[in-house]
Amino acid sequence: MRGNPFSLRDDDAYRRWRERKLDGYPRTSADLLVRLGEAGTVTPAEHAAILSRCRKANVAIYEIAAGDYTSKECVRALGRRFGLARLDGNLCADGDRITSLRVIAGGRRAGYIPYSDRPLNWHTDGYYNPAELQIRAFVIHCVRDAARGGDNGLLDPEMVYLQLRDARPRYVEALMQADAVTIPPNSEGGTELRGARTGPVFSIDPDSGTLHMRYTARTRSIRWKDDRDTRAAAAMLAELVGDDSPFVFRHRLAPGQGVICNNVLHSRGAFRDDPEAGRSRLLYRARYYDRIAGTGPADCEREVAACSG
Ligand SMILES: [Fe+2]
Repeated sequence: MRGNPFSLRDDDAYRRWRERKLDGYPRTSADLLVRLGEAGTVTPAEHAAILSRCRKANVAIYEIAAGDYTSKECVRALGRRFGLARLDGNLCADGDRITSLRVIAGGRRAGYIPYSDRPLNWHTDGYYNPAELQIRAFVIHCVRDAARGGDNGLLDPEMVYLQLRDARPRYVEALMQADAVTIPPNSEGGTELRGARTGPVFSIDPDSGTLHMRYTARTRSIRWKDDRDTRAAAAMLAELVGDDSPFVFRHRLAPGQGVICNNVLHSRGAFRDDPEAGRSRLLYRARYYDRIAGTGPADCEREVAACSG
């Protein structure tokens, strides 16, 4: 690949990437949807369909048509098919490192919004992880939906980068500073479970040249570096990352559907369970240190070259 589109020193590479990125960018969540014939297997055609969406928008939505989609093995197998193998074991993950997301009334998880029916603000997963354990991809997989609500918002960080770089390249520079944001420590009952973490919002993986974003819209979960450009960049990010963005995909996962993505920004609406009707929302979530194989800027450029050549 010639140059890196995410480097501020490489305007030519950025222009080429930008043109390609906007060409045929998906408009709605229906454009992201790929039907999988059988749980636990992905045919070459299904694989290609998911991969092309992830190359374009870093996210695809799948829908399993037949078979047992209720086991975690189904999620694990899907991940493996896309080069996702190294699972993150966060504080609340089950022993097998795949988390069951559902409403939990008591215990450690009760204090965390993901385990409640409240809305979840825009964020990337693992924004509090250290640099060497960044979450590059995740799968969320719906086993049961709620009686009402619980739709997701999905937003490709590369589109946010593009908008920011077009408007104010120096804000991108501010957000690439190694001390742009600090995530305060996580404490429970006076015990510190995780120290404060300082790092950039946008970073470029030195090996693959891919863009990574760490972000949360929860203001009490993040402290911005106190300089003028960083503050202004944070304010612009708050506008770009939100329900009003023209690039947000909205989707309510039905049982057997899921999202596979390169850790795109996401949000979740409030929901209401109805256990008596068997409508208690249950999602499996697998977070990976790997990125979806074949979705780096070099892979995308090669694909275009092959098509036009
Ligand atoms: Fe999340």
